[in-house]
Amino acid sequence: MTETFKAFVVDEQDGKVTNQYKDLSINDLPEGEVLIKVKYSGINYKDALATVENSKIVKSYPMVPGIDLAGVVEHSDTHAFEAGDKVIVTGYDLGISHFGGFSEYARVKEEWIVPLPKDLTLEEAMIYGTAGYTAGLAIEKLEHNGLSVEKEDVLVRGATGGVGTLAVMMLDSIGFDVVASTGKQNAEAQLKSLGAKEVIPRISESDNKPLGKRTWQGAIDPVGGESLSQIIKQLDYDGSIALIGMTGGTNFDSSVFPFILRGTSIIGIDSVYTEMRQRKHIWRRLAKDLKPDQLHDIKQVIKFNDIESSIKQVLEHENSGRIVIDFEA
Ligand SMILES: NC(=O)c1ccc[n+]([C@@H]2O[C@H](COP(=O)([O-])OP(=O)(O)OC[C@H]3O[C@@H](n4cnc5c(N)ncnc54)[C@H](OP(=O)(O)O)[C@@H]3O)[C@@H](O)[C@H]2O)c1
Repeated sequence: MTETFKAFVVDEQDGKVTNQYKDLSINDLPEGEVLIKVKYSGINYKDALATVENSKIVKSYPMVPGIDLAGVVEHSDTHAFEAGDKVIVTGYDLGISHFGGFSEYARVKEEWIVPLPKDLTLEEAMIYGTAGYTAGLAIEKLEHNGLSVEKEDVLVRGATGGVGTLAVMMLDSIGFDVVASTGKQNAEAQLKSLGAKEVIPRISESDNKPLGKRTWQGAIDPVGGESLSQIIKQLDYDGSIALIGMTGGTNFDSSVFPFILRGTSIIGIDSVYTEMRQRKHIWRRLAKDLKPDQLHDIKQVIKFNDIESSIKQVLEHENSGRIVIDFEA
């Protein structure tokens, strides 16, 4: 390998955050047993936030952002991996307090690494990235709680976002009737082409009634906030919500009635520290039964040199689908 390599580095001085491509050497990388040549990464909303001031994402500066990476092992100090292995790393401290995926090389702890499942390419792993992995984890947990293709509609909120789009596609690919909720008026045709049976506007408020019409067998919710109270009231008997995010707010109110009269459950989803056995299982599902036919249709591939303009797009909510960084493009 070369003496130096390029990385996108975020730094802070006197409260001002700067973003710069820099030449690093292997000695600049944090400790870890496995050195990976990064082939693909992706831009999540969290990555975009990591590049701006006061976002509270980055725990220590300087930092290389990138909570996701896929690549090939260059060198390993552990028997668990060897040079040439194709691997995925998402979550943990990556891009937060440990140099992440926006770099030609990354060095990580062996316990963070998932071997690339067969039937999945490195590029496909990053079309999914944390967004797809999280959607897959949510589906798995809802299924364990009774979600079934024999039953009626599943609601996906924030449907044009990274998590939402992939949740719509995956649920459709395994046979669910998906109702997509979106705030974007012009997104109906695209969401239907990706697998939504019906597209509805954002559910933005909650009424004062203790229970609503039983409408959903389950819901995937990257939105949260006050409107979550309304979804809770609309679940059918033994229905569950996979609660993932907070683009609509952090707090919600609820009475006990949906829980004690309809057996409603709220299942929290954490993609960052998922236990490794389950993490590998979800990635195997993403390679097989959850893999949508149209996975490649939602990718926007960019060069490593073009990260800054894509980050701007994400911060201004002008992106759609998944932004994949191809280090060899
Ligand atoms: N728990 C975890 O491990 C985990 C993992 C990944 C992501 N997340 C979180 O999940 C959330 C979504 O992530 P993402 O990657 O899908 O983000 P994203 O690509 O930015 O999508 C978020 C979507 O939320 C909807 N939205 C935005 N503002 C809204 C508002 N005020 N009210 C209602 N809906 C709104 C929009 O969809 P529409 O315009 O279609 O409504 C938007 O596209 C974030 O909060 C993220 O931090 C959590």
